[in-house]
Amino acid sequence: MDSWLLSPGGTVTGELRVPGDKSISHRALMLGSIAEGPSHVSGLLEGEDCLATLRAMRHLGIEVRRPGPGEVIVNGGGLTGLSAPATALDMGNAGTAMRLLMGLLSAQPFDSELIGDESLMRRPMERVAAPLREMGAEIETLEGRPPVRIGACPGLNGIRYAMPVASAQVKSALLLAGLYAKNPTTVVEAAITRDHTERMLRGFGCEIGTRNGEVTVRPPTRLRGARIEVPGDFSSAAFFIVAACIAAKAAFTVRDVGVNPTRTGLLEMLAMMGADIRLWNHRSCGAEPVADIEIRPSRLTGIRVPERLVPLAIDEFPAFFVAAACAEGETLVTGAAELRVKESDRLAVMARGLAAIGVQAEVLDDGLRVEGGRIAGGGVDSAGDHRIAMAFAVASLRSDGPIEVRDTANVATSFPGFQQLAQSVGLGLEERS
Ligand code: S3P
Repeated sequence: MDSWLLSPGGTVTGELRVPGDKSISHRALMLGSIAEGPSHVSGLLEGEDCLATLRAMRHLGIEVRRPGPGEVIVNGGGLTGLSAPATALDMGNAGTAMRLLMGLLSAQPFDSELIGDESLMRRPMERVAAPLREMGAEIETLEGRPPVRIGACPGLNGIRYAMPVASAQVKSALLLAGLYAKNPTTVVEAAITRDHTERMLRGFGCEIGTRNGEVTVRPPTRLRGARIEVPGDFSSAAFFIVAACIAAKAAFTVRDVGVNPTRTGLLEMLAMMGADIRLWNHRSCGAEPVADIEIRPSRLTGIRVPERLVPLAIDEFPAFFVAAACAEGETLVTGAAELRVKESDRLAVMARGLAAIGVQAEVLDDGLRVEGGRIAGGGVDSAGDHRIAMAFAVASLRSDGPIEVRDTANVATSFPGFQQLAQSVGLGLEERS
């Protein structure tokens, strides 16, 4: 099993760029496939999750060419251009890919099946399957989990659906199915979640209405192929933002990061803790806002995280809990039960890992209480969760002894090259297998 050995302490210096945004990359591949004509994507994240989506689109009969690193040309076949796959589609570790494809495949005139790795096969899929059935889809899960079997579509009706959970994946799956329905589909959000699907659909020429927490898609006659530049992934930048907050001696910059406000809750949380973070060089990357993020040294103090920020920072909690461990006093997160159904149970696995390196953390039903202080060091099991592995690598910057992180192979699902980038800015990371 792959692992990392991290030497304790150190300083983070310089600047870096992170790979492309995972959420946007999945969507570019899927929407490009059902648009008419070629879509040119640059900056695509070539991590395992997005490569699973790329392979799935090929299995669905779409030609996807890769002329260079991060460059992809998707030769879309239009809304009706997908064809029946010869095998079950294996989405690996990628929850986003599986859930969004459930929406897209529910509307196709052929049967399909979605499977994944051990972690994905344990994750809840009824949150997507149930509203899709309301639209008329034929869709089966195994006690709520994959494999997901989807029958040839008998025709979909648009619905108005009030989401019981704050989930961009559920919203996006319904919007994708809604492209094929007889009438408009409206999703009422439980809280604001990332809006990449809405932004990108508009770029492909689709009419999307957003008002008062409701999103409505009107079935288009066609989507037009588009040019998509994928910005750096804020969720990957998050590890280096926290690293700089806890271990920079001078200004540290992460360049060209997507700063869509539905993603940047972490910046608000860290600012509440006393972090000194500034955004420069604001610009647009297609439909998405981008900036350089500069972090200056500061002292962090524990906070109570406002629950409204939780969906806006949903993937950043592993990194945030490390910031909390380095802050003075207690940090309390509540309203975050969704963290239990990510690539791992992130509340339980983070609490165990923090305890293993000498940090007090109490798991609540829907959150975590972390007592900031010293980090001793020790051995941590990431439970195969990419973001947990990277968070504990960052923790080593403030630990007294070395930290061993076990089960690190899945870091390649979202952040290929993390190890080299981390080493280049000052982490003492050694790979072992
Ligand atoms: C994602 C949405 C989030 C996030 C995931 C990516 C997306 O999941 O955790 O990593 O691309 O739509 P939920 O919307 O289910 O919270």
